[in-house]
Amino acid sequence: MTGGAGYIGGMATSMLLDAGYRVRVLDDCSTGHADAIDPRAHFVRGSFLDASAVQEAIAGCDTVMHFAGKSLVGESVQKPDLYMQVNVGGSAQLLNVMKENNVKKIVFSSSAATYGEPEEVPITEKSPTKPTNPYGLSKLKVDQLLTQRASEDGIAAISLRYFNVAGALNTSHGWLSERHNPETHLIPNVLKATPESPLQIFGTDWPTLDGTCVRDYVHVVDLIEAHIAAMKALVLGKHEIINLGSGDGYSVRQVVDAAALVVGRSIPTAEVGRRAGDPAVLIASVDRAKELLSWTPTRNLLAMMSDAHVSLR
Ligand SMILES: NC(=O)c1ccc[n+]([C@@H]2O[C@H](COP(=O)([O-])OP(=O)(O)OC[C@H]3O[C@@H](n4cnc5c(N)ncnc54)[C@H](O)[C@@H]3O)[C@@H](O)[C@H]2O)c1
Repeated sequence: MTGGAGYIGGMATSMLLDAGYRVRVLDDCSTGHADAIDPRAHFVRGSFLDASAVQEAIAGCDTVMHFAGKSLVGESVQKPDLYMQVNVGGSAQLLNVMKENNVKKIVFSSSAATYGEPEEVPITEKSPTKPTNPYGLSKLKVDQLLTQRASEDGIAAISLRYFNVAGALNTSHGWLSERHNPETHLIPNVLKATPESPLQIFGTDWPTLDGTCVRDYVHVVDLIEAHIAAMKALVLGKHEIINLGSGDGYSVRQVVDAAALVVGRSIPTAEVGRRAGDPAVLIASVDRAKELLSWTPTRNLLAMMSDAHVSLR
């Protein structure tokens, strides 16, 4: 598990251990937190760009779950080379060490950012991929690399293209929550909003039900259940790309209203102008996930909000 100290990887580690798997975590803690790693996991502190650290972590493993990487859109625009070096170069290196160690299975954390501004919603895996930032491009390049390695080296790979992941998990070592710095995701920011630092709503004149942007949110526990199903669905010589979302969309105002309901007070907001590059609506088609993984998300926006709220207290 690369990135097992991160938001999603930390919870995935715990859920895999609970399901009876043995887990080795490789993480340099650059954006993650060592205390998020389940104490039952074996932890190798290091970078997936460092072949010897990967070698140490991977020996004897059956499958790699590759969560680690850089994932800030704004930073990627400022430092595109860094995103290519870490996300693309690092993943190529990881695949090389996997090959040397005869590890042939990988589940990769891709992103809806590979699609860019959609021509139609819901977005299917056949929708055009036109990323609008280097982060999305770096994820697309790794997806393409996996297609190539599946055909040339016969590896089994699944890229899971996440939409917006939210929520938290209560584990045997306490609640794991979203702890990004800076935090760019809406739900934790809604919950943290104060009168002094209100939630900024970027644009109220979008062609949507209430004028605010609509996004697809998936509970992190549903998302990790899909990873476990993906791991079981890996086929040597094949690379599959699968969207993970809820198949439904919520506007920023609907998210704010859900937060108010959960915390029992109004959420301070400030309406500001549209942000460049924000599409009005992003909703996933999750038909392929249903078909290939027999997976259906079951936790709704209120569950995501309430778990996030409890975990942040
Ligand atoms: N959170 C979301 O909504 C979302 C949406 C789409 C895709 N993703 C992707 O899912 C993955 C996990 O996201 P997250 O929100 O848990 O991010 P995160 O930043 O919380 O976790 C990433 C982890 O990777 C580690 N890491 C980074 N560079 C590393 C390196 N070179 N070597 C070893 N470890 C390294 C970090 O220390 C961190 O623990 C990322 O690849 C991200 O791009 C996340």
